[in-house]
This record gives sequence, structure tokens and C-alpha cells, in this order.
Amino acid sequence: DNTPLIDPFARPIDYLRVSVTDRCDFRCTYCMAEHMQFLPKKELLTLEELDRLCSTFIRLGVKKLRITGGEPLVRRDIMTFFRSISRHLETGDLRELTLTTNGSQLAKFADDLAALGMKRINVSLDTLDADKFAKITRWGRLEQVLKGLEAAKRAGLKVKINTVALKGFNEDELFTLIDWCAAEGFDLTFIEVMPMGEMGDDLRLDQYWPLSDVRKAMAERFTLTDLAESTGGPARYVRLEESGQKIGFITPLTHNFCENCNRVRVTCTGELFMCLGQEDNADLRAPLRANEDDAALEAAIREAISRKPKGHDFDYSRQTVSGQMSRHMSHTGG
Ligand code: GTP
Ligand code: 5AD
Ligand code: SF4
Repeated sequence: DNTPLIDPFARPIDYLRVSVTDRCDFRCTYCMAEHMQFLPKKELLTLEELDRLCSTFIRLGVKKLRITGGEPLVRRDIMTFFRSISRHLETGDLRELTLTTNGSQLAKFADDLAALGMKRINVSLDTLDADKFAKITRWGRLEQVLKGLEAAKRAGLKVKINTVALKGFNEDELFTLIDWCAAEGFDLTFIEVMPMGEMGDDLRLDQYWPLSDVRKAMAERFTLTDLAESTGGPARYVRLEESGQKIGFITPLTHNFCENCNRVRVTCTGELFMCLGQEDNADLRAPLRANEDDAALEAAIREAISRKPKGHDFDYSRQTVSGQMSRHMSHTGG
């Protein structure tokens, strides 16, 4: 059965995000607890299982595959998986194979990624100040990421920087980040911090910087033109007329984009989450492991998609974030 995946709200699902590890070499404070209990390695899907799973989704019409984590490039032998799955680019069954990364390992892998057909990558970076970077990642070295970014550029990868907008943290760097991205030739997307994980309510609320305010601040220095184009993800883009650069806004809180949702996500243990902001999930590892052919896997995927919810209900207006989503972002990979 090759009928494409359509959810109950008539949304075609053609974008799959797959987390290949729960581990990360950083511990961004809004993403992970300082002391994370990582999964035993045997719980993870093997590289072969990941390949089978992704290939099944591609057969069911997935055109865009984004690999996430944790930090995907710390998974052992991950290049073997990338090389293998890139065969679907060659046949044209897959339109885009891409990656969301913290950039720490890019110096090592950028050339290989470009060589196997990757065109662009998203790199998370919340500050250009080395001390602040060490603080938000709990011990990361900015220098290492900057070297990775240089390598990506040299390899010909198009780079989009993802910046979580954090009040009292990177508010003062808004124009520094914009100007730096213009100089480097990077696109830039801002993200509203989502109430996930167990960080104290007060801190998360204190840090929330609505992108409607970010946009206002931007408009004081730049002329903003809304763009109709999309990268197939949740961001809405504007062009800054003075610099010609493209800026994205991911606004789960101030402007819900769920009605156009085209994606589902799989965790590194094979749980299929139909929504980033909902707990409902389906186990795909069991049908993967129990069967040589993919029929049971396909049936489990179709069954799960048939109950994809309308959207998340993240909300800071209740003035509390506890109980909203105890799962860490790193669990589902964003
Ligand atoms: P592009 O291909 O460049 O459009 O990437 P993308 O925005 O799809 O992926 P990326 O990994 O860069 O995601 C950026 C942010 O968007 C992450 O913080 C994700 O958690 C968030 N995000 C992606 N999809 C969803 C979604 O369906 N719902 C919500 N609430 N956030 C999402
Ligand atoms: N809210 C918003 N974005 C988050 N990310 C991680 N945790 C959160 C959160 N609670 C971002 C990372 C990365 C992307 C995959 O998700 O910074 O850019
Ligand atoms: Fe690691 Fe990314 Fe989470 Fe930061 S946001 S801790 S870099 S997975």
C-alpha cells in the first residue's frame, strides 16, 4: 500500500524528524537537566533499524528527513547511516536529507555530509559571547562551534542558525546575531522557548521572550517584508530589506502554526510522536524487531497517524508551566 500519509485533519505528512541519540555533549539549560540519565545503548534503534524505519516512511511519501538528537553527530558511526540513507536522494524518492546540530562536531563531519548530498543544515546557537555560551550549554565551547561553522561553509553547506529567544539572556544580542549572520551568509531563525522539561516555572516564564516583541525590536532598525516561501518547517520568514537577509520566526506561543503541521517525529528508541507538544506516541520498535517484512511497521505507522492530534496546547498565560510537558525537548529532538 503506497497511499501517502494523511492525518485526521487532512494534513499530508511528508516531513519526518528522527532522533538518533538521546545523548548530547552540551546541556542547554532549557533543553536538558544537568544530570541526565541516558538510555542504555541496547534500547536504541540500531543503524540498520533506523534505515529500515526511515525507508518505510519514505515509501509512504516522506520527502523531507531531518536527523536530530540529542546531538546526532555524537552517535557512533552515524555517517554509515547517512551514507546509506542518502541513496533515496539519488533516486529522487527523498527531496531533502538534513540535520539539526549543535555544531560541535561539524569540523569533523561537514565535508562528508556535503559529499553525500546534504545541502543545508540547522545549527543551534543562542549567543556569540563565549562566557554566556558556556553558561547556557553548561560547559560548551563557542570556539568549537565557530570552527564547525567555518567547516560547514567551506564544504558548501547552507547554514541556518537557530536561536532560542531568551529574555535577560540574548535580548542584548539581537542585532549582533543578525549582523553576524549577514556577514557569514547564514540564515537565522528565532524560536520561542517552549515549556518542556522540568525547569522551574519561574525561570521558564522569566526567560520567555515573545517573538512578537523580537519582531518589533527588529522593525526599529530594519524594514521587514513577509515572505510567502517556506522551508517546509514551522518557521515563517521575513526579509530585512536593508541587508537582504532572511530571518525566520518559530512562534508556537504567539502564533500557533499547527494547522499546517506536516511532520511527525521518532525518538531514538523508536517511539513515534505525532506532536511535539503531546504525550501520545506509538511504539515502532516492536513491529520493527518482530518482523522481517515491513507490513506490521507500516500498519503501526498508519494507525498512529490516524490519531495525530490537532496541535499542542503550550500556554504561558496560566502563569505556570508545570504539568504542561515534563518530557525534555531532547527526548523527541525538537
Ligand atoms: P527547516 O527545514 O529549516 O524549516 O527546519 P525546522 O524548523 O523544521 O527544524 P529545526 O530542527 O531547525 O527546528 C527548529 C525549532 O522548531 C525546534 O526548536 C523545534 O522544536 C521547533 N519545531 C519544529 N517542528 C515543530 C512543531 O511541529 N511544533 C513545535 N511547537 N515546534 C516545532
Ligand atoms: N524551547 C524551544 N526550543 C528548544 N530547543 C531545545 N529546547 C527547547 C525549548 N524548550 C531547540 C534547540 C534547537 C532545537 C532543536 O530545539 O535550541 O535549536
Ligand atoms: Fe544538546 Fe541541542 Fe539540547 Fe543543547 S538544545 S542540550 S545542544 S540537544
